[in-house]
Amino acid sequence: ALERTFSIIKPDATKRNLTGKITAMLEDGGLRVVASKRIQLTLAQAQQFYGVHKERPFFDELCEFMISEPIVVQVLEGENAIARNREVMGATNPAEAADGTIRKTFALSIGENSVHGSDGPDTAKEEIAFFFSGLELVG
Ligand code: CMP
Repeated sequence: ALERTFSIIKPDATKRNLTGKITAMLEDGGLRVVASKRIQLTLAQAQQFYGVHKERPFFDELCEFMISEPIVVQVLEGENAIARNREVMGATNPAEAADGTIRKTFALSIGENSVHGSDGPDTAKEEIAFFFSGLELVG
């Protein structure tokens, strides 16, 4: 089915001027950018967005990293967009990511892994609503 998912181009990638190259890989992977903006998160926003991870040992490091530079948040649309996006991104740990994936190509480490993508339909809905109003979504 035609789905939407939420994507972030993370600070390690925006810093290295990889926004266009990563967006091209998403588009070549069958995804359409239906909303996009470059923002810099506050610490409170990063902590709220990653709230499910707040008990993890890497939580503080993750939030500090995510506010260290601007990010690009996007809504991607396509057939089975959630799973498709996860294939195009590759595994969370770049050492385990398949050849040709975004993380294999660009990620620096498990933390500085260039992109985020929603892990399921419920989180996709929540994450899109966290960053975008209905008016900003143009199919
Ligand atoms: P993301 O998909 O944005 O969701 C949670 C993030 O936590 C994940 O990508 C990783 O970048 C980060 N993460 C997961 N495991 C670790 C770890 N061991 N050390 C640092 N960051 C991590």
